[in-house]
Amino acid sequence: MALKVTVVGVGLVGETIISCLKERRFPCEWPPRVAATTERPKVLAGEEMLVEETSAEVFRNADIVLFAGKEGAQGASATWREAAEKAGALCIDNGRDFRLASDVPLVVPEVNPGSISRDTRFIASPNCSTIQMVVALNPIHEAARIRRIIVAGFQSTSGWGEKGPKELRKQTPAALESLESVSFDPAVFPRPIAFNCIPQIEPFMEEDYTREELKLLYETRKIMRDDAIQVSATCVRVPVFVGHGQSIWIETQKEIAPGEIKDLLRKAGGVRLYENVHESDPAMAYPTSIDVHRHPDDVLVGRVRRDLSNPRGNTLWVVADNLRKGAALNVVQIAELLVQRGMV
Ligand SMILES: NC(=O)c1ccc[n+]([C@@H]2O[C@H](COP(=O)([O-])OP(=O)(O)OC[C@H]3O[C@@H](n4cnc5c(N)ncnc54)[C@H](OP(=O)(O)O)[C@@H]3O)[C@@H](O)[C@H]2O)c1
Repeated sequence: MALKVTVVGVGLVGETIISCLKERRFPCEWPPRVAATTERPKVLAGEEMLVEETSAEVFRNADIVLFAGKEGAQGASATWREAAEKAGALCIDNGRDFRLASDVPLVVPEVNPGSISRDTRFIASPNCSTIQMVVALNPIHEAARIRRIIVAGFQSTSGWGEKGPKELRKQTPAALESLESVSFDPAVFPRPIAFNCIPQIEPFMEEDYTREELKLLYETRKIMRDDAIQVSATCVRVPVFVGHGQSIWIETQKEIAPGEIKDLLRKAGGVRLYENVHESDPAMAYPTSIDVHRHPDDVLVGRVRRDLSNPRGNTLWVVADNLRKGAALNVVQIAELLVQRGMV
């Protein structure tokens, strides 16, 4: 029987969820029910659909609700979680609101599918930068216990939502004329983003780390089930439309050679490994953000090498499509897991 799915939020992640449901032939009624803050028609996955205004009605008879609305007190899941659960739906949320709640599993299907139990009714999907990092690091953690992660993220403008790439597009022609005269919306990025790198994503919090950086610490510990892992992150917004890059240094309890890491990653689910920097074709030597268009569903890993400053250290470069594996695809893969387990 076809499942009834409601998607709340039709911004960048919501529309990518609808495309993933269609491409992967998720066993649901088509089109799914879609809702946002206002009612209007919208082309989604190449088809005109009616977006409803979110109310308790959009959850009636729903088997699964996929939240892709904004976060915080006025956000979609904070406002509508209770109504969706009351209607009997199993919910999967893209936002940060419930990720660290002790009764909410935070799930990346390649890493911790076991954290979903038979009576789970609400599941959170991690932040985009956490997802790509744990998919790449978990096989190494299982083999050699990661004790410390230092990560620098080079994060695309679509990570902000619809307004991010629009700001980059709007500022670029003006920046080509004069970098000083570029006007920008500080509610989107705190400094101009065209031809610039901004070392701030989300507000500053404890110890002068940003909220985005702290997500990499707390979410990683929860997903990898190891509170002893130390993480220090710097997240930088870069003038890229889609595709987050991360330069990651790890220290493991047990010494592990780059060749062993490559062996593990070659076999790891969801990973595409770029093995050899000496490939004659640079596109085969290491991944870059634009390569996510060719491989939108994989976490791309390259430049695996020894950390010359640390005998138990290695370093690698990780890229993924923040809208697909970093958000929409991960959510749809969780929904597929629920179907496989007969939970819906
Ligand atoms: N972008 C990424 O790379 C990424 C990655 C991982 C997780 N996420 C998370 O995914 C969620 C969606 O992000 P996005 O990038 O798609 O943002 P977006 O492009 O700005 O879209 C937000 C959508 O949420 C809807 N919305 C906002 N508040 C709502 C409410 N109270 N009730 C119902 N709908 C509401 C908006 O409705 P209207 O269209 O009517 O304005 C819009 O359709 C966020 O929680 C974000 O943190 C994003």
